[in-house]
Amino acid sequence: MSRSAHPAGPRHADVLPEGHYSAPPADLNALDPKVWARTVARDEHGVLTVGGIDVKRLAEEFGTPAYVMDEADFRARARAWRTAFGNDADVFYAGKAFLSRAVVRWLHEEGLNLDVCSGGELATALSAGMPADRIAFHGNNKSAAEIERAVRAGVGRIVLDSFQEIVRVAHIAQSLGKRQRVQIRVTVGVEAHTHEFIATAHEDQKFGIPLAGGQAAEAVRRALKLDGLELIGIHSHIGSQIFDMSGFEVAAHRVVGLLRDIRDEHGVELPEIDLGGGLGIAYTSDDDPREPHEIAKALTEIVTRECEAARLSTPRISVEPGRAVVGPTAFTLYEVGTVKPLDGLRTYVSVDGGMSDNIRTALYDAEYTVALASRSSDAEPMLCRVVGKHCESGDIVVRDAFLPGDLAPGDLIAVPATGAYCRSMASNYNHVLRPPVVAVEGGEARVIVRRETEEDLLRLDVG
Ligand code: LLP
Repeated sequence: MSRSAHPAGPRHADVLPEGHYSAPPADLNALDPKVWARTVARDEHGVLTVGGIDVKRLAEEFGTPAYVMDEADFRARARAWRTAFGNDADVFYAGKAFLSRAVVRWLHEEGLNLDVCSGGELATALSAGMPADRIAFHGNNKSAAEIERAVRAGVGRIVLDSFQEIVRVAHIAQSLGKRQRVQIRVTVGVEAHTHEFIATAHEDQKFGIPLAGGQAAEAVRRALKLDGLELIGIHSHIGSQIFDMSGFEVAAHRVVGLLRDIRDEHGVELPEIDLGGGLGIAYTSDDDPREPHEIAKALTEIVTRECEAARLSTPRISVEPGRAVVGPTAFTLYEVGTVKPLDGLRTYVSVDGGMSDNIRTALYDAEYTVALASRSSDAEPMLCRVVGKHCESGDIVVRDAFLPGDLAPGDLIAVPATGAYCRSMASNYNHVLRPPVVAVEGGEARVIVRRETEEDLLRLDVG
């Protein structure tokens, strides 16, 4: 996945370089279990089903576009993470990937904790009954009001992101007569994305306090002196959509190095280490993510080894997967509005949503796949680009994909692996209404986030 954001416009209409897209799949009706939620299948008529319900029924009942979430799959993935790390570690689901009150309840029931990074996420978590001590509060610029709310609520930890924040949180906690458990987020000089990682000067970003130049050590010094704070550990998050564990290895090595320095200087062994999130998922069949138990084993081994080498007792590990829990559990269901063949190029398939419900393609050049969902087809594959209804040529949902040549207006198509960072990054661009999230489980479907209405739009616009 390229990280190069670029201006929307002509580039999107260019012919792609040779080799950008692969040959059509052998069977266009096949559903690769790597990219589809677990209960997704085709029924005897070829219609896509999830949780025992076919998508035609979902479209009739809830309309399109809609995010359709497989609750059993969500719970299974949450449980797999929980089980993989066992009782000696904590899994904090990163709410930024997708958060709703139903999701908070599922997480609570499955024994996960929750990472929030804004007052809005905190409010959602608390209103759905997540115990405050199982919430971690993140963010590089938390407002005083947000900090106060988190401290009052009794969140389990606040992750400190700057020198100013160390003082700010200490002051607020003290003025409330509390001692707040905190971690310090450090930047270890590693940035990892997908298949590669770079261990150089990636301190050049807004998050955390650099290890370089003794800055993190100085932050620890200050935090340890403040009565309002109980420093419980060090936090590191190295990137997104990571498949390769070597970035975590370097990060753990450097964080443990800091823990050793802290012990040597202050005589304290901090009890926790948080390695953040960023574990990758399969957006297309080319991606090969690892299972949670493999990740847990690898991370635990890395931290244990590093601590043995530093003669430290192994701290309690925590991780913050967002995408890897929720990403694969949902697909977006769209209705095809127009099918426009462009001779010698490709066919443009316009759907009833677009960059407002999935900004990732435009923002990160993210790759997705798509399948005809309301029926199967034996027609020849045609190279398509799935585009939205927005007034912008960069409004692309799936850049290159093969769909059956008999695709027609009124067909339903589904884009898998849209559970993470699609609804949570959705916008009202062009005053398009944000789609609902429909949870499906055991033959039943229910709305967990309702579709936005024109009244919702107009309510905010006070005239
Ligand atoms: N913990 C921290 C401190 C984070 O900053 C993030 C993500 C996570 C955990 C969860 O990462 P995950 O496991 O979901 O990859 N909008 C981008 C992703 C931004 C992630 C920001 N931080 C995308 O759509 O790919």
